[in-house]
Amino acid sequence: MSTRKILVSGVKPTGRPHIGNYFGAMKQFVDLQESYESRIFVANLHALTSVQDKNEMEQSARDVILDYLAIGLDPEKATLYYQSDVPHVTELSWIFGSLTTMPYLMRAHAFKDAEAKNKEINVSTFNYPLLMAADILVHDADVVPVGQDQKQHIEIARDTAEKFNRAFGETFKLPGALILEQVAVVPGTDGQKMSKSYGNTIPLFAADEEIDKTVMGIVTDSSGEYPENVFKIHQLLRTNEELDKLYEENKGKYKVLKEALAEDLKNFIRPMREKRKKWEAKPEEVERILTEGGQRMRKVVHDKMIFVREVVGLIHHE
Ligand code: TRP
Repeated sequence: MSTRKILVSGVKPTGRPHIGNYFGAMKQFVDLQESYESRIFVANLHALTSVQDKNEMEQSARDVILDYLAIGLDPEKATLYYQSDVPHVTELSWIFGSLTTMPYLMRAHAFKDAEAKNKEINVSTFNYPLLMAADILVHDADVVPVGQDQKQHIEIARDTAEKFNRAFGETFKLPGALILEQVAVVPGTDGQKMSKSYGNTIPLFAADEEIDKTVMGIVTDSSGEYPENVFKIHQLLRTNEELDKLYEENKGKYKVLKEALAEDLKNFIRPMREKRKKWEAKPEEVERILTEGGQRMRKVVHDKMIFVREVVGLIHHE
């Protein structure tokens, strides 16, 4: 039996990933796959809250699994699967919903933001944190690597585990968030946090020309000797020592420094982009990975859910 600690995480399939998603969260999946028993899923049920189009949903989910494989997740090491292939999580989120008050969930940042933008917010957007809690708790996860933006969701998962344990006895392990503090906020091309909603991203699988164009378009403050926004993004790819030298030698030469960043980005992105293409050409193999991953996870989660049903008084009939 494996004695490794359990790692669980997922990415919601909506739109192209950018280097902020990669450095803020996804890179950790790869770095940690040797030392943790990793279960990484495509959060397609969560995506349903904003995508209600069959083709778009299928395509976006497929994109995320290709992204996982391209960044170096190894299906021999980590279990990769679709969230919807382990439907037990929806059952568990229903149980959690019965223990959670509306005022509590109304304090969630994501809900408040969504509500500020759209009053006609759907019920699943409101329940989003509870499905996420179920994703995590059903595995008795030890760690959950996520970006800074998901921190509150992990806190909600912990609160939910405590609430459940208090009501029904010790059942769920309290998970910890793994947030890389030094890259907690990856800067975008305008210096704000890199985010799709700000339109300041560098796509993770961008083509060379797109990288050139995006980097040359980085907004710089021409009053200083260093283009700060260029430097901040560059820090993701090189040590401070290397950068100090490069930026010192090219003081005031914004164009040269941008070109250096574009080169580094191209060299960094190219191998992943090529790996993604290779996987794209092998759809049957990707399907096999997902089938095996889903089967494995359903088995693991099944026993846990029988236990959960029993402790809440829902007698299970095999
Ligand atoms: N909410 C996460 C995101 O927006 C995706 C997600 C769903 C997740 N369930 C999770 C992440 C469980 C970690 C653990 O990307």
